[in-house]
Amino acid sequence: MLVLGIESSCDETGAAVVNGEGRVLSDVVESQVALHARYGGVIPELASRDHMTNATPVIEEALRSAQVTLDEIDAIAVTCRPGLVGALLVGVQLAKGISWGRGIPLVGVDHLVGHLLAVFLDREGDGSRRVPAFPFVALIASGGHSAIYKVAGPTPEEISELGATRDDAAGEAFDKVAKLLGLGYPGGPVVDRLARAGTASRVPLTIPMLTSNSFEFSFSGLKTQIATHVRDHGVPASEEGLADICAAFQEAATRVLSEKLIRAAIECGVRDVVIGGGVSANRELRERVQSLAAKAGLAAHVPDLASCTDNAAMIALAGAMAFKQGKRDSFDLLATRHTALPRSTRKGNGPRA
Ligand code: KG4
Ligand code: ZN
Repeated sequence: MLVLGIESSCDETGAAVVNGEGRVLSDVVESQVALHARYGGVIPELASRDHMTNATPVIEEALRSAQVTLDEIDAIAVTCRPGLVGALLVGVQLAKGISWGRGIPLVGVDHLVGHLLAVFLDREGDGSRRVPAFPFVALIASGGHSAIYKVAGPTPEEISELGATRDDAAGEAFDKVAKLLGLGYPGGPVVDRLARAGTASRVPLTIPMLTSNSFEFSFSGLKTQIATHVRDHGVPASEEGLADICAAFQEAATRVLSEKLIRAAIECGVRDVVIGGGVSANRELRERVQSLAAKAGLAAHVPDLASCTDNAAMIALAGAMAFKQGKRDSFDLLATRHTALPRSTRKGNGPRA
């Protein structure tokens, strides 16, 4: 079985061909980072227009490098939620067009389910990969979402949220801290690189919600502590000073993410823990999850770096798994900015039950 995946939910135009076992035959990502960098964030209208320009060549390149034609494709999987609606529409309408023109079944995929299942992708093809067993507990930490889920199967109906961020997503906090320090956009990879040489204890931070019993997070307070530090001391002129701030922020963010993930896995009684989303590319998060899991007798599954940030291979794989369970979408498939996954955490301040 071969599935063509199409991804256009935010600022990456992606197309990929993946087989029924998750083997990646091609994975093409055309990033818009340079287009949006000077604005310090994604401009939706520019994103849609750029997807329009790039989507067809990216799909052609994915088919060419997988050495397959559309005649060999069994299903088309496309991200239809959550994301920027104008951006999503480009992929969804193209997928519908190809599906209609070639008579290939269409499967709409929730982008977050793609991130949750990205760890199943087989990029090496040498059989060395270990995959988690359902049910597992997974953390998604990306630019738009941060939440812990219990994943009993590959479709949204089998996934439940255990807790999420009450305010900023983890990746958003990395990006905002980088912006405060004048490090450019996106900030996660730069903070990760600088943090290596820094000493976290030189910038003391309190970590919101670290000890609370819930599996919820809060990142905006952490960002405010960095903003206050910068206001009082200025942006450090030396790379060493920048590194210390990056190390302190990264330690705080990755500690709360990893500790809550492991606690959730223990509470749910599962054996496997998984991470996904752009922030799962972070070196310290990967190390913390692996070492805490080992101490707790759990198996940690960390995606390849190419599977962490947005890509169409994870969409093709999630589509393949749902397609195997009989999922098909009609041409009524809509693009929406909301995820299909249930949400248990309310955003914002105020009393909670
Ligand atoms: O999953 P993704 O590509 O897009 C969304 O669905 O949001 O995640 C992008 C986010 C950005 O906020 C970026 O700064 C962050 O992931 N990111 C990282 C790293 N690489 C990307 N954050 C921390 N460390 C990294 N190495
Ligand atoms: Zn994403």
